[in-house]
Amino acid sequence: MSDHDFLPKPLCHLDELPLRGSKGVLYQGQSLFLVRQGEHVYLYENRCPHRGISLEWVPDQFLDSSGRLIQCATHGALFLPENGECVAGPCAGQSLRQLRCHVSNGHVWLDDEQPS
Ligand code: FES
Repeated sequence: MSDHDFLPKPLCHLDELPLRGSKGVLYQGQSLFLVRQGEHVYLYENRCPHRGISLEWVPDQFLDSSGRLIQCATHGALFLPENGECVAGPCAGQSLRQLRCHVSNGHVWLDDEQPS
């Protein structure tokens, strides 16, 4: 194993995320997705609390037509981008699992410290 293996890797370049957009990322075998709402970027596990399956049918499309809510393509559950709470649909009141991330040097990074 070389030193290179220990260097942190960004989740994506910020320019890959439209101002109201989303992107799926694979990180250490985990399916995650990023949501950008203007200056804010949020990171979630790609797993709907309703059936435990991936949210998107089309790659990188995790938002509804307004671009303001996360949507599960299977049964249409809607989630708030800022905290992952389901506000409509079969899993209303449940939440997506959020992970901490930050933007630095034009890239989005997974934080070292994660909520338990
Ligand atoms: S699997 Fe997401 S709403 Fe049913």
